Amino acid sequence: MTQLEINLPYFDLILRGFADGDRDLEQAFGRHVHWGYWADPSHAHNTVEDFCQAAEQLTHEIYTAALVQDGQSLLDAGCGFGGTVASLNENFQNMTLTGLNIDERQLEQAQQKVIAQGNNHIHWVEGNACQLPFPDASFDRVLAVECIFHFPDRGQFFREAFRVLKPGGYLALSDFVPQGWFVPLIALQAQLQNSLQNSGFYGRSDVTYALEDYQRLAAEVGFQTHIERDITENTLPTYDFLLKFGARNGYDWSQLPAFAETLTIALVSRLWLVKYMILAYQKPTFQ
Ligand SMILES: C[S@@+](CC[C@H](N)C(=O)[O-])C[C@H]1O[C@@H](n2cnc3c(N)ncnc32)[C@H](O)[C@@H]1O
Repeated sequence: MTQLEINLPYFDLILRGFADGDRDLEQAFGRHVHWGYWADPSHAHNTVEDFCQAAEQLTHEIYTAALVQDGQSLLDAGCGFGGTVASLNENFQNMTLTGLNIDERQLEQAQQKVIAQGNNHIHWVEGNACQLPFPDASFDRVLAVECIFHFPDRGQFFREAFRVLKPGGYLALSDFVPQGWFVPLIALQAQLQNSLQNSGFYGRSDVTYALEDYQRLAAEVGFQTHIERDITENTLPTYDFLLKFGARNGYDWSQLPAFAETLTIALVSRLWLVKYMILAYQKPTFQ
């Protein structure tokens, strides 16, 4: 298997914070490392507790889109510290849950934190979501929570997810989905950043895949579209929380890229140039 370079500065920072005993950081990002979902964004409190609840709710929204049920075999690709697997483990029984991540440091954390319960079985696997180390038709569900923009190739991931799903199985994911006409501008900005050999605070992220691209890809691969849900509005309080949390120990210059990138995503999201979407697909029962 080709070795993929792991370039995720935000995870380096989080892991350093854990090692230094930063309890607030551990509380905020020790389980989920993704945006929050607020059913009523006007009631967001901007506290760590409120953010954690919202991050947990985002996970629920995604696995609800995948119609997860007791007794299933599920792959969580790009599983972070195992928060989605932890949530499924707490809410379902007789599951076989597999968390896959390219970064073994995150898997070590997941392994320590998530203990199987309710007749569930949990496996942690190091690997690339675009080259899944599993046989055909091994899962009822595949999830990819806020990570597909890091994968080397969305097409390859979709083909792999299709291959490892059983007929009738579902893939559900969340992603930052730009308006089609805005894609060339993002691509230009990404090219500029690449030419400066700067992958930024959030690492290599491709946010140039519009909804039309997903629709074309799903049809090419053979998936039937199940859900296309715009939840941008519900995720917006995330930005105030991240900016406030980032500044909790005061400002310093080293945080500038993190602030600049978070502010940019906040702005393009508030202007609806980039939407936060939950997308779900079904592999047909008969092919
Ligand atoms: C924003 S985090 C989301 C983590 C987790 N899904 C969550 O919601 O807490 C993105 C994750 O994708 C993982 N990742 C990036 N590229 C990957 C790849 N090619 N294969 C598998 N995982 C990958 C990162 O290591 C990281 O855990």
